[in-house]
Amino acid sequence: MKFASITQRLSGLGGAKWGVHFRARTLKAAGRDIIELTIGEPDVPPRPELLDDAADAMRAGRMGYSNGMGEPGLREALAQRYSASTGREITPDQVMCLPGTQTSLFTTLIGLVEDGDEVLVGDPMYATYEGCIRASGAAMVPVPLDPENGFRIRAADIAARITPRSRAILLNTPHNPTGAVLTQDDIREIGALARKHDLWIISDEVYEELIFDGVPFASPLAEPDLADRAVVVSSISKSHAAPGFRSGWAIGSTEFTSNLLSLSETMLFGSQPFLADATAAAVSAPSPVAPGMRQRFAARAATLAQRLEAESALTVSRPQAGMFALIDISSTGMDAETYAFDLLEQAGVAVMPGTSFGATLGTWVRVALTAPDAALETACERIIAHAAARQGALAATS
Ligand SMILES: Cc1ncc(COP(=O)(O)O)c(C=O)c1O
Repeated sequence: MKFASITQRLSGLGGAKWGVHFRARTLKAAGRDIIELTIGEPDVPPRPELLDDAADAMRAGRMGYSNGMGEPGLREALAQRYSASTGREITPDQVMCLPGTQTSLFTTLIGLVEDGDEVLVGDPMYATYEGCIRASGAAMVPVPLDPENGFRIRAADIAARITPRSRAILLNTPHNPTGAVLTQDDIREIGALARKHDLWIISDEVYEELIFDGVPFASPLAEPDLADRAVVVSSISKSHAAPGFRSGWAIGSTEFTSNLLSLSETMLFGSQPFLADATAAAVSAPSPVAPGMRQRFAARAATLAQRLEAESALTVSRPQAGMFALIDISSTGMDAETYAFDLLEQAGVAVMPGTSFGATLGTWVRVALTAPDAALETACERIIAHAAARQGALAATS
């Protein structure tokens, strides 16, 4: 039977990236002592209040269809929240509720770009970006992120890759996997480019509430002169430790939401009313679980950096936010994938090869900071011992 070309465009974008993770699970199932630092998920359950709110709403009969924009109560709550955080008036008409950041991003890309267009995106990037862009038919144009610039995307590097086909810049701040947070100057420089070349700016801000102490957050949604072209996608997946709720949103101009409405109506009818009610309550107050995650993830990143840099030739790029840290493994003389499989087999520590997130991270691996402190300490010891053995092997062959 014949399949549509989208299946071809997306083929090969799935499982291959997770080879180390799957191998780790196999070894674990066979009884090996493996410390898994591959996948990052909130390390706490959602607060019982969130579950109670959803259950109460279900019992109260909020189980019917929603509509293509989402429930009015949630759109109002998000409009208030984003008006307060951006200092601009964001109205409920600018808010479209969708199941998670992922679906919001997918819908946004399908609605804004197509075959013949190009989307500029930092490399490395979150694992699904390439698929979302390719699904739309547009081409992905990777913009290498420079560790010397803290992995923050540079406007000049974007400018160098703009062509007449460029249609959108996809930002991710805070960034997965690097933990970089864009500054207001970064956003304004990128915004000037977007205005000059008439590009959309799509900003995935799902980690906004996991920014470590003292790091300021900036969003293109807060810039009045980007009002017609900025779109923010986010959710309660990380902020409220509730990825399974699949409760997210896209916020842009009213022109953006009105043009995407028929797409959303064709696919879904917003988020389920009972989830929308629980989410409205959740986003109307500071998250009760985010401060603990911020504190734990920042402390673990510091531990990883201190131990590895004091006791090995490995270096760590300190994240400013999020659930991950990157280790520069170039001193081992191995590429990221070889290193990650070797570390797993020899030392029983599973990390993600940087190349799973883009070509730029050829000598980096990503470590999830969501494992308990004791597991991370043991992982540090194993990584240090593995690096020492590797240095010994290199010395012997040189
Ligand atoms: C950068 C980034 N965007 C989007 C998502 C998906 O978020 P959601 O669960 O809200 O769909 C993730 C999940 O890990 C992510 O890291």
